Amino acid sequence: MISYRERIADILAPQIEGLEKEEIMSMIETPADSKMGDYAFPCFKLAKILRKAPPMIAKSIAEDIREDSVFERVESVNAYVNMFISKEEFAKEVVDEVIEKGDDYGRSDIGAGKKVIVEYSSPNIAKPFHIGHIRSTVIGNSIYKIYDFLGYDTMRINHLGDYGTQFGKMICAYRRWGNKEDVIKEPIKSLLSYYTKFHEEAEKDPSLEDEARAIFTRLEKGEPEEVELWQWFRDESLKEFNRVYEMLGITFDSYNGESFYSDKMPRFVNELKESGLLIEDDGAQIVKLDEYGLPPALITKSDGSTLYITRDIAAAVYRKETYDFYKNIYVVASQQNLHFQQWIKVIELLGYEWANDCVHVPFGLVSMEEGTMSTRQGRVIFLEDVLNRAVEQTKKIIVEKNVNTENIDETAREVGIGAVVFNELSNYRIKDYVFSWDKVLNFEGETGPYVQYTHARACSILRNAGEEIQANAKEGFDAKYITSESAHRLMKLIYEMPEVIVEAGEKYEPSVVTRHIVDIAQAFNKFYHDEHILVDNEDEKTAKVALVTAAKTAIKNGLGLLGMKAPEKM
Ligand code: ARG
Repeated sequence: MISYRERIADILAPQIEGLEKEEIMSMIETPADSKMGDYAFPCFKLAKILRKAPPMIAKSIAEDIREDSVFERVESVNAYVNMFISKEEFAKEVVDEVIEKGDDYGRSDIGAGKKVIVEYSSPNIAKPFHIGHIRSTVIGNSIYKIYDFLGYDTMRINHLGDYGTQFGKMICAYRRWGNKEDVIKEPIKSLLSYYTKFHEEAEKDPSLEDEARAIFTRLEKGEPEEVELWQWFRDESLKEFNRVYEMLGITFDSYNGESFYSDKMPRFVNELKESGLLIEDDGAQIVKLDEYGLPPALITKSDGSTLYITRDIAAAVYRKETYDFYKNIYVVASQQNLHFQQWIKVIELLGYEWANDCVHVPFGLVSMEEGTMSTRQGRVIFLEDVLNRAVEQTKKIIVEKNVNTENIDETAREVGIGAVVFNELSNYRIKDYVFSWDKVLNFEGETGPYVQYTHARACSILRNAGEEIQANAKEGFDAKYITSESAHRLMKLIYEMPEVIVEAGEKYEPSVVTRHIVDIAQAFNKFYHDEHILVDNEDEKTAKVALVTAAKTAIKNGLGLLGMKAPEKM
């Protein structure tokens, strides 16, 4: 499809010495008010280069652009050049292309041959998968989908928190107070209660700490009895996590978590020693980072055991050597900013020049509105409960609203879980936000149900139009019927979709896609409100059905990138 920005820049580049085509493209604006054109070019910056007053420059530029027939009208207003694209030509081009590409509309190959690792979710074994984890899981999954759609060779890693001294405590507690049936029935809950019990008892009897440490040492040495229990805890926990992943439709290519690197760390401790970076501090080994405004990185404790950060150093190098990534993305809460700054700096100091291809993608906190969820245990809110509740409430709404669907349960699942996912991806990821059911499940607000409902509405129009008209629309249509203000606005948003996906990838920001499909849904509903679609005139009907097909396709592809389903009926 033609790029209008590129077309404008091609005309301007020879006239403006000293500005690259890319720079010119980035200067082109898309005015919010359509009276100012589809595209506008401000000439202020050119005054210095061209040694002329901006309004004069605008006038002469307008003349050049007028030569290109893709523009129906070009005006110079003060220092601005306002360009109006030929609506009919535009309609033909955009709608044809979207219909032709279908599910692939917006897909690109800019990432071809480049490996991108997206690490996300990464819960801790034997700890609940709570509402905070949903952020990493859902944002990471969407970032993975966006990179995949852009043609990158992607890999999804779930870096499980499955190692560390706490496993010594857990095994110790299980042996003393645990029982097998409970772990099988409710793994996370039971293991968590053993862990809590351990801490209570250790207050009274400090020798338990020594016992736990000894057990962890045995685990590290690979003693079969400890390894077997640890493996079992891990397997049972993973079963429970997988239930949630299944609800969300999420899978991973690797579950190599912290334990995977347990035997890979001595190499880095040595490398750090040899490079003179490692300093002894009270028996512990640290790397000083104050030169870089960071606190020291603790590499090994005084008892010789390694830490979370040591495992991240080992993991990054392993990934580079095994997968030769172009980018290694970590979707992890902003509370860990410092941790990532520290270890990425250590990798850089070790001389790995790819250190800055490791990208920490942080996100803010989520809190629950008072009374949003009752808690099963303590103050932790389990993600599974939230998802189940969303599905239940959606089912109620579907029944009340008498929603058009053959399979109430399936639709309730797609819409309810989709609503939670969409809500997660609606704001800039770095912002903290408060979870509220009213905002999540509202069918009228800027929500998942609203966008899905709009998609279903488009599907329903297409069903009513019938197969024949739809087939005709694919063959060709007279674009003069879809040049109204609201049709044009809808089309422009559809046209921008591929650029929006690239932007979302560059910024690691799925909310860019979320917002854009809300805009498309709103523009579609305005078009639907302003115009009769299934009119008697066959040619007009065919053109409008073509536009509805394009809108449906853009919304569906966008929802897919967020990790959501697009039900055809609701
Ligand atoms: N398991 C950690 C947690 O729940 C997150 C792991 C993040 N990934 C990493 N490579 N450090 O806090």
